[in-house]
Amino acid sequence: MRIAVYPGSFDPITNGHLDIIQRASRVYDKVVVGVLNNAAKNPLFTPEERVSMIHQVTKELDNVEVDSFTGLLVDFAKSKNATVIVKGLRTVADFEYEFQMALLNKALNPEYETMFMMTDSKYSYISSSMVKELAGFKGDLTGLVPCEIISKIKQKYK
Ligand code: COA
Repeated sequence: MRIAVYPGSFDPITNGHLDIIQRASRVYDKVVVGVLNNAAKNPLFTPEERVSMIHQVTKELDNVEVDSFTGLLVDFAKSKNATVIVKGLRTVADFEYEFQMALLNKALNPEYETMFMMTDSKYSYISSSMVKELAGFKGDLTGLVPCEIISKIKQKYK
């Protein structure tokens, strides 16, 4: 069974992330979405809230699991019996950083392959930070994040 891990902060999940999850779920037998518990990034949502939102928007996908993790990604992947790390590439600007991360993860554990998926061009300009900034200015989040979670984001800026 081919198990892939799709890691990120997902603070919050965007339509760009969801697109990668949907496509990866068609390529791999199982996709484990790994939510990094990264207090250093001063997240808007707790890891539990982020996991719950991803659960909500992926409930139709039977082979998708969601969990949070702390520490190294390769250790999380191992704990899930995954052999593949999936990452989305939005623009060429993502490439250098992702290339470095892929090589580092390979050095940490050569058993893992990082597979890149090109983010759909209609989502290439979205990031979680942009979504938060827009929400802070009461901007319209339609089309940027799954509609089920828009109210949860707005709630944080009340
Ligand atoms: N659609 C929309 N946005 C996307 C996207 C997509 N397909 N892919 C990435 N993004 C956005 C993310 O939302 C994020 O936005 P933000 O910076 O505004 O929050 C940004 O692009 C960067 O994404 P990414 O590089 O995936 O960062 P991340 O913080 O979401 O996740 C980890 C980083 C968790 C993958 C990485 O830090 C990690 O593996 N940490 C564990 C520790 C470890 O093993 N480190 C390596 C060895 S030291």
